[in-house]
Amino acid sequence: MWLEFFSQATINGLDISDFSDVEIPRATIFQADQSDARRLTEIAEEVGPFDIIIDDGSHASAHQQVTLGALFPYLKPGGLYVIEDTHWQPERSVERREGIETMLTIFKRFSIYGESIKSPYLSDERCREIEQNVVRCTFSHPFVDENARPQKRSMIRDISRRVLKGKSRQSDQRLFKLIILEKKAMEDRSGFETTAVQMTCDAV
Ligand SMILES: C[S@@+](CC[C@H](N)C(=O)[O-])C[C@H]1O[C@@H](n2cnc3c(N)ncnc32)[C@H](O)[C@@H]1O
Repeated sequence: MWLEFFSQATINGLDISDFSDVEIPRATIFQADQSDARRLTEIAEEVGPFDIIIDDGSHASAHQQVTLGALFPYLKPGGLYVIEDTHWQPERSVERREGIETMLTIFKRFSIYGESIKSPYLSDERCREIEQNVVRCTFSHPFVDENARPQKRSMIRDISRRVLKGKSRQSDQRLFKLIILEKKAMEDRSGFETTAVQMTCDAV
């Protein structure tokens, strides 16, 4: 799918499962646990920096935070960092037990309420680096079909407005579970933006 979507790109995948016997032109799949920051850094040193990073791995909040901390420095200026399923934590997960926040909560607080990024899995230095280098934070739903029923489209428009006004409800979270962080291209960080959009199926 990614080869088709990024038809000119070299793709570096990373998965906890071993795909070493799979040979795909333009793609390499590294075996790694995304909660292992040192291994992520090793891989990024080998094949980075990257134009786009997509975290669609375990979806565990802690893993997403470790991965962001390790890979954000390897995102090129002007690059995009995409995280899927930022709202979800399994019932009996360590995150729930230990009160670890979801990525959605962390980035809503940062981009809508202007609060600092905080995570037990990110150093203060990395949090500041992310704050200073993200120029746009987009909350999106990946599976809204262009042909969705008009009621559904208007419901999503209403929720988008609520998200942008910082008045989203708990039930809205599920609809804006995909976050796209845009890294600044130049020194100037003027015009930080928060957007809530609906993406069409064929755009993901
Ligand atoms: C939803 S699938 C997405 C697959 C792939 N990222 C893609 O975009 O097509 C989730 C994948 O994450 C992998 N995964 C689960 N836990 C992981 C972890 N801790 N570290 C790295 N990959 C993990 C699974 O083996 C599975 O292939």
